[in-house]
Amino acid sequence: MSESLYINPDNAHKAVQDALGAITGATTLAELKEVRSAHVGEKSLLSRMNATLKDLPGDQKAAAGKLMGESKAQVQQAFDARETELQAAEETQRLQDEALDLTSLGSRRPTGARHPLSVLMEDMADVFVAMGWEIAEGPEVEHEWFNFDALNFDADHPARAMQDTFFVEPVDRHLLLRTHTSPVQIRSLLQRDLPVYVVAPGRVYRTDELDATHTPVFHQMEGIAIDKGLTMAHLRGTLEHLARAMFGPDARIRLRANYFPFTEPSAELDIWHPTFVGGARWIEWGGCGMVNPNVLRAAGIDPEEYQGFAFGMGIERTLMFRNNVSDMRDMVEGDVRFSEQFGMVV
Ligand code: PHE
Repeated sequence: MSESLYINPDNAHKAVQDALGAITGATTLAELKEVRSAHVGEKSLLSRMNATLKDLPGDQKAAAGKLMGESKAQVQQAFDARETELQAAEETQRLQDEALDLTSLGSRRPTGARHPLSVLMEDMADVFVAMGWEIAEGPEVEHEWFNFDALNFDADHPARAMQDTFFVEPVDRHLLLRTHTSPVQIRSLLQRDLPVYVVAPGRVYRTDELDATHTPVFHQMEGIAIDKGLTMAHLRGTLEHLARAMFGPDARIRLRANYFPFTEPSAELDIWHPTFVGGARWIEWGGCGMVNPNVLRAAGIDPEEYQGFAFGMGIERTLMFRNNVSDMRDMVEGDVRFSEQFGMVV
């Protein structure tokens, strides 16, 4: 038996002092739990000393038993006291940690904002929905036939050239990223019963470098109306209505002769922008014209019976001069602070 297990006042005192030191040294309940197994539990020195009682001669048992009892009680008491103390401290800490400051400002999750291009495009389309027109859509990866051939573009029209158009490889599949929303004209005429009155807002692609006034991905809104007896006066009136709805009652439009393969006659559409930041003035807005009979024929419509008009304009450009945005790059970067300026109404 090792020396330290002899039951005598010195050994008992030393074991008690060690235990008390460890108990005071424990600063958390977790630490105190370790102290329990080392100094209070079965394997503690005091317990092991206590276990030697039975081997003592009968006349020593009473005194040794008393010494052990007192020592163990002293340690147990110190342990219980420390445990109560640490429990109270941890409880206080927990309450402090969980305390809610009911007077503090709430933290709000930013809600984001709709992109002004989406809002503007919807507003423009709504002007037509209010007149009974429908909204049409077409694919952004489009067949060359819809984007060019059916729209009366010559096989060697410069717009088809690789520099302007993103072709999808392999090129012999004749797929491309649509360069305008006009292919939706053909799709609408093929899918719908006459008369047709549709607008087609959507994304288009051209091989332009991104700068303040160009972006390779942009948006257009196309309109096409095919009915019996439609004339250029209907085109004019429709566009004038759109202009006033979007730019106020003083807005006017002007048509200048131009060329598009899919309209004849064709015109450049200018708008008199009465509230332009630099002062009221004419601004180029889009293209338009009477649908070319060849386009009607490509869609299986008899041009002797049905006529119509079409128009198309860029949404980014519209947002620029209507809402005074000077750099198109702000529209593509996706910084929510840009969109937030517009709110829900452009
Ligand atoms: N698609 C033409 C463009 O992108 C615009 C246009 C549409 C012109 C409809 C006439 C008729 O420039």
